[in-house]
Order: sequence, then structure tokens, then C-alpha cells
Amino acid sequence: MDKNFIVQAVRGMNDVLPAQIAGWQQLERVTRELFAAYGFEEMRVPLVEHTALFKRAIGEYTDIVEKEMYTFTDSGGDSLTLRPEGTAGVVRAAITNGLLRGARLKLWTSGPMFRHERPQKGRYRQFHQIDVEAIGFAGPDIDAELIALTARLWRTLGITRVKLKINSLGTIESRRVYREKLVTYFRQHEAALDADSLRRLEGNPLRILDSKNPDMQAVVSGAPLLTDHLDAESREHFDSLCAMLTGMGIEYVIDPRLVRGLDYYSRTVFEWVTDALGAQDAICSGGRYDGLIPQLGGDPTPAIGFAMGVERVVELLSQTGAPLAPAAPDVYVMASGERAQRTALALVERLRDDLPQVTLHVNLGSGNFKAQFRRADKSGAALALILGDAELERGVAALKPLRHEAGQTECPLEELAVRIPAILADLAEPNNAV
Ligand code: HAM
Repeated sequence: MDKNFIVQAVRGMNDVLPAQIAGWQQLERVTRELFAAYGFEEMRVPLVEHTALFKRAIGEYTDIVEKEMYTFTDSGGDSLTLRPEGTAGVVRAAITNGLLRGARLKLWTSGPMFRHERPQKGRYRQFHQIDVEAIGFAGPDIDAELIALTARLWRTLGITRVKLKINSLGTIESRRVYREKLVTYFRQHEAALDADSLRRLEGNPLRILDSKNPDMQAVVSGAPLLTDHLDAESREHFDSLCAMLTGMGIEYVIDPRLVRGLDYYSRTVFEWVTDALGAQDAICSGGRYDGLIPQLGGDPTPAIGFAMGVERVVELLSQTGAPLAPAAPDVYVMASGERAQRTALALVERLRDDLPQVTLHVNLGSGNFKAQFRRADKSGAALALILGDAELERGVAALKPLRHEAGQTECPLEELAVRIPAILADLAEPNNAV
């Protein structure tokens, strides 16, 4: 095989193989059920939007817009971008489809996002988010409910090594005042700033607080705190949120340096982090974006949301030790002999009609009984249905439990639809398992 001839996957963009899919499906199933229980409706938005949408929503001076977007000009001359996150598209869709108009929307969406970041474990260029947005709600109660939903999700999935960090960024106006204080402070300490921070000083000084550079920690820790400059309403909103979280028994840490990497946030921001995944520790992050909708041309409407990184949550899920094997079939069907092979598929199709809740895998292609038994074993099926020419001649088939000591029995073909579920129920009894 000529390795140079094989076209490789794009760096940072991963395949999800059948052996990995169980965790994805479990997360998708549990979130789908939870969202419905909390009154959220699914919507789907395009993977590609006009570049201007992300520039306006996420902010010109963010890392995402400055250096991580997959932007291209299509043959019609439009500048388009593969979505780096879900919120901008959902808000755009709510505005352009006329969904706002004073309505209260509880929405969720999911799918791939694209950011040209440096790939490493847990950080990819195509990654997946499950994204929740609550539009038209101003009070701290929805903030608390969204956080309660995420806390319940971790409990349901058996994920324990997570911690909730929360902060308030205040209103856009109080942030403007704070921003000036911050710029003044960092200007006084310009000599201690690294190149990235110097660049951010004009465009996005709050992001300097987020610097991971160890040499910057002293100057960052001396910076004025946003929490000390909150306006009274944001303070009250934040205090109510904290009281509601405490009332629900949800533990949290107030992190005054949690600023988030997207510009649209105001007031509440939060992040669930873990110490089980190495450097990429954020599994779910979000916050309030009361100013975004008018900024994108909609009527002023408060909103809050969050997104979780599916790859990271699935990795955590695989560490919980919960069995995530792909589901085994109930019955593996083998056929040997010309007539048996010719009639097996028709017989199985009839059984599938009669027993829609029973999963049957058929041995396709021929193979002697020994090889077929090996495949049956490997499939993990509880029961083998064996069709041979001689038995078919007498109108019977054989049934053999594969994970149980009970021996093989014969069953008239017309009784299979009754006998198979009865045997499966018997085998499922815990004290009947081997
Ligand atoms: P974000 O913090 O940029 O927020 O991303 C949310 C989550 O996506 C992160 O916590 C992380 O788990 C995951 N994530 C981000 N980048 C990557 C990557 N390169 N590889 C793997 N996982 C990644 C947002 O995107 C906001 N739209 C969240 C939001 C919704 N805020 C309000 N509504």
C-alpha cells in the first residue's frame, strides 16, 4: 500500500468510529430527553453563515475572529465562514424567521463547529457542541435553571469530577467603565505584558485577565476586579442567582477572572471545568448575552445560553467506567445448506414484522457452522437461531442460548415469534445469566 497515495483526514478533524459511537449516542439520548423535560425545542441552523455575522456577534478582537475562522469567498463573491460556534446562527435564525416578537424561546441545537486552533488532546479544528439558548428571559431564575439542567446532566451521566465556576461581567455600560480602569492599570504595567496582551490592550483588555502565561500572573493578579465595579442591578441579579444555586444544593465557585472568549456576554457567565482531561478543562460554558440581539438587528431581547464540547464530555463519560459497548443483537441467525440460505432472509423479515422490538442479525454470505458460531459469539447475541436444510424439511429451526448453559432446542417455524421473546425474557433474568 502506498501511504503517499492515501488522502489523510484534515489535521484536527476526527472520525468517530463505531467503537466510539456508544458514548456519543448516550450523550445525545440523555440530553434530548432532559431538554424536552425542561421545555426546550430543537432547531437546526446552517453550518455556513455570512462572515459578517460572526464578526459582529463574537467580536472583531477575539481570538476566534482574529485568527481561527475558516473563511472563504464563494463563487458568487460572498465572504462566508464555517460556523465557529452556535449562538450567532441561532440568534440570526430567530431574527430572520420572525421568531422573536416578544416571544420566549427555549431552543437547543447541536452539530459540528470549526475553529483553526492548534490541535491537541481535547482541542480540535472540527469539534461538536450541544448548544442551549433561552431567549426572552431577563431574570436570574433562567440562569439558575440552565445551570441546574447541566448539573442534572452530569448526575444522570455519572460524571463527578466537575466544578462550576460563575462570575458576573455586569452590564455593557458598567463593563465599559471597568474596561477603562483596566486599560489604565495595564498601561502602568506595560513592561510586564507579553506580545499577546499588548495586542489585546486596545481591542479586548478583558482577555488579558485570561492569560495562561505564567510570567503574566503577577501583573494579572494585581489588576482591578470586575466584581468590584459591578452596577447595582447586575450585583442584585448575581446575588439572586447565587442564592438560587445554594437553594438547589448546587456547589459553585465565584471566579472573578472568568471573562470568556466571546464578546457578546454581559452579567452572568459560567463554566463547568474538570481536572480529568488535562489542559482543555472546560466541558461546558456559557452566559447571558442581553446585548447581542439588538446588535444583530433584532428588538432588544435578553437571552442566555451555554454550549458543551461533545468530544470532551464523551471522553469524561468513557472515564466513568459505565459500559459503553455498542448494543448487541438479541438473536444471531445462521443458515447452512442451499435451501436454508435461500429462505433465511424471508423468514427473518417475517420475524422482524412480528417482533419489531427484537433485534436480529443475519449471517450474510456463506461459511460453515463453525465460522458462523464464531461470528455469532462475537456479535454478543443472547440467542442463535439455526436454520439447516434437514430441519427446514421438518418445518423446524433450532434455538441455542449463546451466553447460557441451556442446550439447543427445536421449535416449529410458526411458533418462533412466540418462543423467541419467551426465551429472551428468560435469559434476561439475572439469576439465569452465566
Ligand atoms: P465556548 O466556550 O467557545 O462557547 O465553547 C463552548 C464549549 O465548546 C467549551 O466549553 C468546550 O467544551 C467546547 N470547545 C470549544 N472549542 C473547542 C475545540 N477547539 N475543541 C473541542 N471542544 C471545544 C461558545 O461557543 C458559546 N457559543 C457558548 C454559548 C452558548 N454561550 C451562550 N450560548
